[in-house]
Amino acid sequence: MKRLQPIIILLAALGISGCDPAARGFSLPPGDVAQGEQVFLNMQCLSCHTMEGYERPDNADELSVALGGKVKSIKTYGELVTSVIHPSHKLAKGYDMSTIQTEGGESVMPLYNDIMTVAELVDLVTFLESKYELEVYEATDYSLRH
Ligand code: HEC
Repeated sequence: MKRLQPIIILLAALGISGCDPAARGFSLPPGDVAQGEQVFLNMQCLSCHTMEGYERPDNADELSVALGGKVKSIKTYGELVTSVIHPSHKLAKGYDMSTIQTEGGESVMPLYNDIMTVAELVDLVTFLESKYELEVYEATDYSLRH
């Protein structure tokens, strides 16, 4: 059941990031937003996360790391894939570190790599990606005319 291992090794080898030319050519097949939403709900991501338009389960964790919504810099597809299959790579910003990482400095987010199929991952990330919206910087209007 280690279906994702080749991808993880690949991502690690490519050091996937926007500016790394070694990541060129990395592409997953298109995903399906509706199916991704099902994966998101089935895998109970909402027990630690919040997302606009979704209710958290009653037994939700104290943790509430926001996913989606308006962001100042957009999360790339590669970053979202990495956040899901290798959460410790780069921890989310703006949270009390003691709540989001273990004593060993790892993300407290569980690893789904042995239970999530590649198809589920692709759909899930397509769903997540659709939930982020870039907050456009609005320049102050200094013009005197109205
Ligand atoms: C046990 C709690 C827990 C569960 C369950 C969980 N996560 Fe997380 N997740 C976290 C924590 C804590 C962070 C912040 C630390 C980090 O970046 O890894 C995080 C971070 C993330 C991030 C990066 C957010 C950012 O702003 O950088 C994404 C994307 C994400 N999780 C997606 C998911 C998805 C999708 C699922 C379900 C398959 C899920 N998580 C399940 C705890 C959890």
